[in-house]
Amino acid sequence: MHGLEDKVVVVAGGGAIGSATVHRLADAGARVVVGDLNGEHAESLADAVRESGGHCIGMGFDIADEASVRALVDAAVEEYGGIDAMHVNAADLQVVNQDSDVLSEPLAVFDQTLRVSLRGHFLCTRAVLPELLRRGGGSIVYTSSVAAAVGEPVRPAYAMAKAGIEALMRHVASGWGKQRIRANAVAPGLVITPAMATGLPEEARKHALKSVRSARLGKPGDIASMVAFLVSDESEWINGQVYSVDGGTLLRL
Ligand SMILES: NC(=O)c1ccc[n+]([C@@H]2O[C@H](COP(=O)([O-])OP(=O)(O)OC[C@H]3O[C@@H](n4cnc5c(N)ncnc54)[C@H](O)[C@@H]3O)[C@@H](O)[C@H]2O)c1
Repeated sequence: MHGLEDKVVVVAGGGAIGSATVHRLADAGARVVVGDLNGEHAESLADAVRESGGHCIGMGFDIADEASVRALVDAAVEEYGGIDAMHVNAADLQVVNQDSDVLSEPLAVFDQTLRVSLRGHFLCTRAVLPELLRRGGGSIVYTSSVAAAVGEPVRPAYAMAKAGIEALMRHVASGWGKQRIRANAVAPGLVITPAMATGLPEEARKHALKSVRSARLGKPGDIASMVAFLVSDESEWINGQVYSVDGGTLLRL
């Protein structure tokens, strides 16, 4: 893909989709900084990239803590001299099973979901935007979900957070577009992560497949490809958009 070589990209949240994105970007020649609440995982991911000849550093960070987000951004600037793009990707998917409905949900689940997915994406934006402006422009790719648009009887906090991320993305695109900042979101459908591959009951998998127009469920690499495109110079005139990468789960006019 054109225009990824030597770009400095921060991946904020290096779980299943984040790991695939890190590898995809590094394979294309980008210099990648990955942060995750699980610092050991982020560091070993970076080690793996470097062992295969890429450029990457990894560190622990908490996306909902302003000083911690700032430290991630500072580390990227210190290591590679500036930042060209960020993939804001972390979410606390441990609590999503308790994100039941507006009447029965524990308030702590609501607060934690918004803390990571909404406050965290806001803090990343605040920290990285000045660095992108210093470079003369850049790209922020947020991670939304089909949940933002589909309407479900469950997961209200998750859906609200993801819809809020899309609103934040539009704010950034319209506020800083003239200064060559691009902001877009990728909205994955069900992506089978390594954790799900063992834990998802066969019935649930079949049910999920029925809601997909394509022949299979998603893989982390499907999302990584879209993120790489939205970071690259090939998407230079794309701004303020939400891209569904969901095998046709959501069809729009
Ligand atoms: N897998 C799917 O089916 C799917 C579908 C739609 C959207 N998404 C979105 O894609 C993104 C990645 O999800 P994934 O499937 O790779 O899940 P994942 O759980 O593998 O990755 C999420 C990562 O976020 C990290 N994280 C959690 N809290 C954090 C915090 N406070 N600070 C920093 N990092 C933190 C976790 O440690 C984890 O590594 C998420 O935003 C998720 O909502 C996933």
